[in-house]
Amino acid sequence: MKQFLAFGVTIVLVVCLYKSWGSPTNGVSHYGVAYDDGDNSVDGAMEDNAAPGDQQNRRSPGPSHERLVLSVANNRHGLKELNGIDGDGETDHNDDPNAGGPLAVDDVERVLKHNKPLPMRKGSLVAGMQQRRIQPLPDTFGLDDPEREARLDELHEAKRQILELERKIQELEGRIPRKYPDVTFLNYKNRKRILITGGAGFVGSHLVDYLMMQGHEVIVADNFFTGRKRNVEHWLGHENFELIHHDIVNPLFIEVDEIYHLASPASPPHYMYNPVKTIKTNTLGTINVLGLAKRVGAKVLIASTSEVYGDPDVHPQPETYWGHVNPIGPRACYDEGKRVSETLSYAYAKQEKVNVRVARIFNTYGPRMHMNDGRVVSNFIIQALQNQSITIYGSGRQTRSFQYVSDLVDGLVSLMASNYTQPVNLGNPVERTIQDFAEIIRDLVGCKSKIIELPAVEDDPQRRKPDISRAKKNINWEPRVPLQEGLMKTIDYFRKELARSNHSQRNIFVPETTEFRSLL
Ligand SMILES: NC(=O)c1ccc[n+]([C@@H]2O[C@H](COP(=O)([O-])OP(=O)(O)OC[C@H]3O[C@@H](n4cnc5c(N)ncnc54)[C@H](O)[C@@H]3O)[C@@H](O)[C@H]2O)c1
Repeated sequence: MKQFLAFGVTIVLVVCLYKSWGSPTNGVSHYGVAYDDGDNSVDGAMEDNAAPGDQQNRRSPGPSHERLVLSVANNRHGLKELNGIDGDGETDHNDDPNAGGPLAVDDVERVLKHNKPLPMRKGSLVAGMQQRRIQPLPDTFGLDDPEREARLDELHEAKRQILELERKIQELEGRIPRKYPDVTFLNYKNRKRILITGGAGFVGSHLVDYLMMQGHEVIVADNFFTGRKRNVEHWLGHENFELIHHDIVNPLFIEVDEIYHLASPASPPHYMYNPVKTIKTNTLGTINVLGLAKRVGAKVLIASTSEVYGDPDVHPQPETYWGHVNPIGPRACYDEGKRVSETLSYAYAKQEKVNVRVARIFNTYGPRMHMNDGRVVSNFIIQALQNQSITIYGSGRQTRSFQYVSDLVDGLVSLMASNYTQPVNLGNPVERTIQDFAEIIRDLVGCKSKIIELPAVEDDPQRRKPDISRAKKNINWEPRVPLQEGLMKTIDYFRKELARSNHSQRNIFVPETTEFRSLL
């Protein structure tokens, strides 16, 4: 009997102790579920930060998401239930100027940022809630369980969407420069509408820069065969700029005052890739451009080439030299294509009174050249930057003269502005052997690449040097950028290109106004 009484008293004591000390309905927890005190470490961190004497909080369940969200709400409603929500041991509402306002996504974010969700272990608060759903929520929200969960889901979804939008905005901001290069304001009378065919290519994109900075309206028509949108991407969205995806082999109907016809692949691997298309671009394409110029009364400049001289037997080459071209060789699609292009220009000038300019462009280099177009400068720079052997085709004694691209642009613009209608050479008359170029580039890059010789290429011209007296006399032009200076800018551009490892890394070359003589 005694034993029975002792057992009964023990039971009563245990029940009383349980009620007064740890009962879910008596403590802070409103959930009325059992939890495992030792089941989460976040709890411990909270306890460290809890205000002294806050005994109830010490036994409160860990800061699961739901609980923390509620605690923010409670603080806003003046319940001040939990301390240390943001980890600094102080109640949130004290330093929150918006305290008392509606629960915001910020609050949830703040809570979520500092408190990771608890694992759904057996006996934990969240698991307990989900498994048993015993008690209704406190009426702080005035919401029942499913509604509260739905609200929390909404908040999480909103947070996810906000983060996604922020990521997209950052990506877009990285792509589009916030500021355009400086553009002079031209009034309606002085502002021209200028079409550049092939304007997304190497030379064309620099011409775009110049004309845009001068304040003109520029329209680029390009089929992106060798050109790239990113060459002109720093102008996208500018009110004076328009980019049209168009193959010039098809007619184009627009209203313009001037046309620079640059559309044509320019490097041997590119123009030999599809010789028939190269011929069409330089014949049908030129007819379309001259036809457009005739219809709208526009002045037109045709980009011809020093290749019309072929492998010359006159040196240096004046415009009066008729050339030495193999009409059926591998380069003929380009060389003869450009010769027909010139012939068409003067036929339209004579017969249809079209106002034409013809620029015979010599080798040009600079930023935005293709990395792998097989041209001497780009080949040598890339090989040197990668510490590979620099390859020369032939003996290396063949000569070339290279002009920096901003000099060429100055020349093209001066020729267009002049009254001179005969062909004009635009090139740098400083002549060097290919061997010299290889050594200069190797020294500027500062590498130890070997220079090696490979068999010569068929029909490769042995000497190339422009006679620019016509340009000096008639359009007051001569190149002014020293080789070393131009090469350093180009090397810098290629170095950045090689450093790109993914598409979103940009290497946008934005020119300075000082690049161009006539903008100074
Ligand atoms: N860069 C030089 O050293 C050099 C030398 C002599 C002549 N040129 C002439 O200057 C012009 C520009 O040369 P680049 O070095 O900028 O070459 P590039 O290949 O970088 O640019 C040519 C542009 O024309 C575009 N294009 C080609 N075919 C087209 C078509 N059918 N329709 C529309 N667009 C087309 C290409 O996509 C590209 O954007 C060319 O006409 C070239 O013959 C250049």
